Amino acid sequence: MSKHIVLLPGDGIGAEVIRAAKDILEAIGNKYNHAFNFSSYDIGGIAIDKHGTPLPEETVTACKEADAVLLGAVGGPKWDNNPSDLRPERGLLGIRKALDLYANLRPVKGFAKLLHASPLKEFIIAGSDLLIVRELTGGLYFGEPSERRDNGNAVIDSLTYTRAEIERIVDKAFQSAQLRRKHLTSVDKANVLESSKLWREIVEEKKSEYPDVTVNHVLVDAAAMKLITNPTDFDVIVTENMFGDILSDEASVLTGSLGMLPSASLAEDGVGLYEPAHGSAPDIAGQGIANPIAMILSAAMMLRYSFGMDAEAQAIEEAVETVLNKDYHTADLKNDNGKLVGTEEMTQLIVDAIQA
Ligand code: NAD
Ligand code: IPM
Ligand code: MN
Repeated sequence: MSKHIVLLPGDGIGAEVIRAAKDILEAIGNKYNHAFNFSSYDIGGIAIDKHGTPLPEETVTACKEADAVLLGAVGGPKWDNNPSDLRPERGLLGIRKALDLYANLRPVKGFAKLLHASPLKEFIIAGSDLLIVRELTGGLYFGEPSERRDNGNAVIDSLTYTRAEIERIVDKAFQSAQLRRKHLTSVDKANVLESSKLWREIVEEKKSEYPDVTVNHVLVDAAAMKLITNPTDFDVIVTENMFGDILSDEASVLTGSLGMLPSASLAEDGVGLYEPAHGSAPDIAGQGIANPIAMILSAAMMLRYSFGMDAEAQAIEEAVETVLNKDYHTADLKNDNGKLVGTEEMTQLIVDAIQA
């Protein structure tokens, strides 16, 4: 198969981990006889510096024409004091909106070898395997109006959801649950927020369409607690944009590091974008020590969801596991007895495992 993949490296470690994903995909292309063609476009801080905007028009056009998009990460201290419309993060939100990437799937599955790398007790996290389905194009992130008023002494961030926006993400979550262990936990703040009350109503309405799926509702504060005290209670979690953002970073602790958490951002009908859950990690950028596995596993999700290449995706996942089983780890994964490697070496080890 021939596929055109747009790379959006972005800022900080984004560029470092995108290189890793490209190497892995080239190894997969060679092994399985696929022609993956890549072209890179700017987004985020680097785009502000080069084009005066975090999301140049040519980037949007290229993404729309691609078979799939891989994104590294955006942001960094250099742009932290920029006005809101000139922040790197605006580029990310802009591309999500432009491609209507309403469904962000964040699988959280620990590798057996990394149980010890989590600060949580092994007997609590052993066997945890969950999927966070995060709504990605609505809610507080896209509130109107979002502004400072009264000479900066008052602010507005509004939280809006339409029935249609909630219905499509809830459907996606039910369908995801049907492909897994058939349990859905809807996370909201229905004891306070009107948007959450509608969310809960819609989940209740939809239940009858998916009779094979069991459903429960958990308030977001309790969910934050249960995620790390009883992680094996969860199968699929569906939640709105901001709650999903926070809970997914928290859930990454189950895997040992934020550097392990991949994601797929999907449209109803259109190009998919694949991005690690982590950011540009300015504290370690440029040192060659970033963990590339979240990005590499995101590339595997791309193969599976956008190209239907299940065997190829599985080959990547198995190669990652093989390398971890040999006790190799990057600096974020604590392992006193393991073999510490940097981004490039970890990537090469995974390439070697794919070729083996
Ligand atoms: P971050 O995710 O960049 O980093 C949080 C911590 O995790 C840091 O200590 C970092 O070193 C570590 N970490 C993250 N990814 C890692 C990896 N692959 N390997 C090893 N360690 C890793 O979050 P932050 O520091 O709060 O944000 C930094 C910048 O990134 C901000 O500008 C933020 O807006 C942006 N951000 C972007 C995205 C994205 O582009 N998708 C996501 C989150 C944050
Ligand atoms: C993520 C990030 C983004 C988000 C930021 C950088 C806008 O934290 O992808 O999780 O909050 O969605
Ligand atoms: Mn986040």
